[in-house]
Amino acid sequence: MGLYRLIRPLLYRLPPDLTHEASMWAFRRRIWGLSSRKEGSDPALQTRVAGIELNNPFGLAAGYDKNGEITKSMADLGFGFVVVGSVRPHFHPGNPRPWFIRKAYDGGLVNAMGLPSKGTSHVRERLGEATSQVPLFVSIAGDTAPEFASVREGLDGLAAGWEINISCPNTETGRTFEEDPKALAELLDLLRPFPDRPFLKFSPYLRERERDRTLEMARLALRRGFPNFVLTNTLAMPELGVGSAQGGLSGRPLFPLALQAIQDFRAEFGDKVQVIGVGGVTTGEQAFQMMAAGAQAVEVLTALILRGPGVVRRLSRELKEVLRANGLEDVKEAVGSAE
Ligand SMILES: Cc1cc2nc3c(=O)[nH]c(=O)nc-3n(C[C@H](O)[C@H](O)[C@H](O)COP(=O)(O)O)c2cc1C
Repeated sequence: MGLYRLIRPLLYRLPPDLTHEASMWAFRRRIWGLSSRKEGSDPALQTRVAGIELNNPFGLAAGYDKNGEITKSMADLGFGFVVVGSVRPHFHPGNPRPWFIRKAYDGGLVNAMGLPSKGTSHVRERLGEATSQVPLFVSIAGDTAPEFASVREGLDGLAAGWEINISCPNTETGRTFEEDPKALAELLDLLRPFPDRPFLKFSPYLRERERDRTLEMARLALRRGFPNFVLTNTLAMPELGVGSAQGGLSGRPLFPLALQAIQDFRAEFGDKVQVIGVGGVTTGEQAFQMMAAGAQAVEVLTALILRGPGVVRRLSRELKEVLRANGLEDVKEAVGSAE
């Protein structure tokens, strides 16, 4: 990690879009070695989500390895699983640049990438080549329900788990799938023939009305046999654009909202659901709080972007310390322990 410390001041003087490109370049070349994997493979950290065995509970959240090009590097950094995507059926350029505002809030990031994707066949080739050290998930996005199903079909057999990005405004009505019960029901019916149950990813919410709607949509999913959820996506910031587009807030300011959503799902559904927590996790203590509230695993993205490639190593070390301080043997014991 010495190399990163050395170049970090330079990286942070560049415009954030350029820093992003430089990081992707380095990760494609696996410049950061294998130093972190050991820290993340302690038996105390081993866990399982929706039947998928993980060496540790930390996953790379959707949005960084959009096209399955840096899965090996992400495994090198110690992630217990990697989410590729969101993948769309066909090439999509995303929004015009710039895509990022760094530090719009302390420890936060606003992005307006607009779901760029090289499309399913490109990702199929990438994942077909890669022999991943860790379970891969694929996050799917599309403009219509059949588009989601076509990505799922096109990448069949190449992922251990699936996420469905229902939080993007992509239905024909202009509403998101998470806002539109009819659209969500149609989407789930198209995904039902596939044997595994994907994780549905919801937005965070600020108002009671939105919380009630989110829980109502989760009930709809559960009734149709879809019990797996990712909580949460970025917070839409209509008044904070990046370039021409609306931004989504990630990072530290999101943590209380993601934690609240996990607590609400636990209170409502108990053990009937499996939850992956994501949003602003920057410390092992925060990861622990999410797991104690009921999350089986925790994903991270902005902390990697803002704090660098040592993040999983640090989170793993801190999580083990918190487990010890709470008299717990392993992370499985931590799940739901806040009750
Ligand atoms: C640059 C960027 C791109 C993202 N792209 C996606 C995406 O393609 N699909 C998705 O489901 N979530 C996407 N997200 C949301 C993240 O997966 C995650 O839910 C969110 O950033 C909160 O986690 P964090 O605070 O650890 O970043 C993106 C987030 C960021 C910062």
